[in-house]
Amino acid sequence: MQKHYTGLIERYRDRLPVSASTRIISLAEGATPLIQLQNIPRMIGKDVEIYVKFEGLNPTGSFKDRGMTMAVTKAVEAGSQAIICASTGNTSASAAAYAARAGIKAFVLIPDGKIALGKLAQTLMYNATIIQINGNFDQGMELVKEVANHAPVSIVNSINPFRLEGQKTAAFEIVDELGFAPDYHCLPVGNAGNISAYWKGYNEYATDRVCGNRPVMCGYQAAGAAPFVAGHPIENPETVATAIRIGNPQSWDLAIAAQQESGGWFDKFTDQQILAAQKMLSQFEGIFCEPASAASLAGALYDLSTGKIPEGSKIVCTLTGNGIKDPEIAMQQCADAKPVTIEANLDAVKRAILDSM
Ligand code: F0G
Repeated sequence: MQKHYTGLIERYRDRLPVSASTRIISLAEGATPLIQLQNIPRMIGKDVEIYVKFEGLNPTGSFKDRGMTMAVTKAVEAGSQAIICASTGNTSASAAAYAARAGIKAFVLIPDGKIALGKLAQTLMYNATIIQINGNFDQGMELVKEVANHAPVSIVNSINPFRLEGQKTAAFEIVDELGFAPDYHCLPVGNAGNISAYWKGYNEYATDRVCGNRPVMCGYQAAGAAPFVAGHPIENPETVATAIRIGNPQSWDLAIAAQQESGGWFDKFTDQQILAAQKMLSQFEGIFCEPASAASLAGALYDLSTGKIPEGSKIVCTLTGNGIKDPEIAMQQCADAKPVTIEANLDAVKRAILDSM
């Protein structure tokens, strides 16, 4: 009989820094679906295989849970009673959930007014202490690093190496499922932990000959928050994709290494392009991700259109978070599609249907 799924640490235990006596803090994260796009490749007239790794189906709705199960497991193992992070929203929701699971406290610093509604609601429900700052993520990150020197709290941002250990398992899952690594791996880049973690995962599998190839890593940023494209940190990042509204990425060197070693690149896309990709995925594939996540598809489609990614390629795009997290953007995206209100009788319903056929 098959044992029920108990999360990515159990699944990849031999590749993660845990021992037999470690108490695993898990919400059965990971094992997210890898969905092959069917309609969009046909619409763009390209012979390609595009798969999306839908990380929005993790327990708190984002890829952060992969790193958080490891980071909180190790914090608890080390005797921590409290964790802290700066966040654009998803890390805070994830940290709060895993802290609740572990029975410890979570403190989160978030930029006032700049996090999506769903993420705020989650973090409140999981009962974290939320500290809103009159500043952006980068300022929050600096404060968290300082305060951790003065208070008994473990940082669970991706500067915590256990975060990347957990997140590298997404690459394992992709290879385990496809039987090979994709030719190109596209993902949104903010603080740059995730691109670094994927590269680590692909490298470990290639080194151990679990697969024979490694992907080219393509990191996409929002035009108003694109330090990797600029080549240096930027002061006042701005984008509708609040998850990646970051100007001073903490995993700078690791992300540059991933790009250079894989022969990949960074690029940037406007809010309009990102939102168009988000809507396209929802409308034509039935996959609802949050705006930041759609940067991966926006980039892949652009690079396919210019031939930078050639036809015949196998591409994986990571969809980092669930669209339900940001209902306000979704409603704005669909402002023209107002629901009709009618009388509650059969005739009116029939007319409403026939009118919109
Ligand atoms: N996509 C989503 C939905 C995110 O929440 C983030 C980061 C990223 C992409 C970028 O990933 O930072 O590893 O390059 N969110 C962090 C947070 C910063 O606080 O939730 P990255």
